[in-house]
Amino acid sequence: MPKCIIDGKEVEFIPGENVVEAAKRAGVEVPVFCYHPGLTVVAQCRMCAVEIEKMPKIQTGCSTKVTEGMVIKTQTENVKKARSSVMEFLLVNHPLDCPICDKSGECDLQDNSFKFGSPYMRSTEERRAYVDLDMGPVIQKNMNRCIHCTRCIRFGDEIAGIHEMVALKRGNNTEISTIDGKPLETDYAGCYADVCPTGSLTLKDFRFNKRAWFLKKTATICEGCSRGCNMELHHENNVAHRCIPRVNMDINKYWMCDEGRFNYQYIKDELRISQPRVLNGGEQQSAEWAIAISRARAALAGKKAVVLVGTDLTNEEGKILLEFLPKYLKGTPVFHFGTPGVTAVADDAPADRILKRKSKTANLHGIEKLGFKGLSVIPSGTEAVLVIRAGRAQIPDLTGVKNRVGIGVFDQSQTEDWLVVLPGQAFAEKNGTIVNYEGKEQKYKKALNPPENSKPLSETLMLWMNSQISGGVS
Ligand code: SF4
Ligand code: SF4
Ligand code: FES
Repeated sequence: MPKCIIDGKEVEFIPGENVVEAAKRAGVEVPVFCYHPGLTVVAQCRMCAVEIEKMPKIQTGCSTKVTEGMVIKTQTENVKKARSSVMEFLLVNHPLDCPICDKSGECDLQDNSFKFGSPYMRSTEERRAYVDLDMGPVIQKNMNRCIHCTRCIRFGDEIAGIHEMVALKRGNNTEISTIDGKPLETDYAGCYADVCPTGSLTLKDFRFNKRAWFLKKTATICEGCSRGCNMELHHENNVAHRCIPRVNMDINKYWMCDEGRFNYQYIKDELRISQPRVLNGGEQQSAEWAIAISRARAALAGKKAVVLVGTDLTNEEGKILLEFLPKYLKGTPVFHFGTPGVTAVADDAPADRILKRKSKTANLHGIEKLGFKGLSVIPSGTEAVLVIRAGRAQIPDLTGVKNRVGIGVFDQSQTEDWLVVLPGQAFAEKNGTIVNYEGKEQKYKKALNPPENSKPLSETLMLWMNSQISGGVS
């Protein structure tokens, strides 16, 4: 690999790499605002100032490609002065919002100001203030905090494929807005908050929920479709607060869609069933596990039944079912389900030109590879159904099937007339393997404990087996 010198140290670089990235790999921070590795380089904030030998003026590290033998200095007096001047300029209009700003604690402006800015401000002029128009359901705008880096405009144009963010007016009056003040249209609007280096664009869903420094971060996978975007789940005290994309250049790069980003909310939905429930006199009630299992068995016994296995389950869960079902529900047909209109891997295809896939569950490809066949329609004459799912697979129309039993994640509105529901674990509450549409195996990582009396699928099936062996509880 070719080499350059950064702050006196010999450093290898990848041909075509810019100074910011080469320095980052060498453990040297070159601060940035307008630069984002997933967007085009515009070099307009000037924060990434560096000195390069044989070049008389200060250069911008984001727009300068490293060349063999280049000597780069990031800590000279000139560089420090340039950065501090940029910070002073950017803060001329910035309000003292950190105590009430959701970006606080993870804000590039705050961090760079602390590390590279001056403690003194010379301006005495009044600060500019904007009236903010609503940007739709996903993003809260606060233009007083904007530093006009244009990352948001470039994200819309280059990644979301929609020219909806623009810079209105010029100079001191510049304002980032949507065209004609319309709500944002892209299905990837959450990414505007990710790319914004300040608290100008924040997520409405996360706003005033939790300070960033209290959050624990678990690296996991989105379960929203068969792409399997890498993401972090942020949580505290067993409550999930948000999901943000995690970089994986082979799968989702820096991005994720809004459907995947906000999918986690069902985990903490107050309608989610977290105690075994049985139907008594037309009304569902909580029950002991042993009684509920016994009722579940009775609901299926001697009837023409089918088992529906969600493609939101992990491979590990699928394998357990492959052992359990032939022994304990002998002869009962088994099908996988998850997305209307996607009954097999062959039906899965891109759902847009960015990331989304047609299969709205994460493990269609893994479950089908294990040997489960897809459900087209519920066979006529079916009298009982056992639905096993993790919360994401869409329950098919079960009209006409009287005896319904569920294992896994359900909410009360979905199952109010079901005979039995045995509560299980959602994707964030377990470890497990899923296979994406390209055959890549990825892992869910447990971030949360399942609520109240919910159990892992393996434990529920163990109780079922024991109940069957011992004759069950009447
Ligand atoms: S809103 Fe955020 S991303 Fe957009 S220009 Fe302002 S600071 Fe940059
Ligand atoms: S594209 Fe699919 S996997 Fe990626 S964030 Fe959206 S729903 Fe999740
Ligand atoms: S990060 Fe290089 S000019 Fe903005």
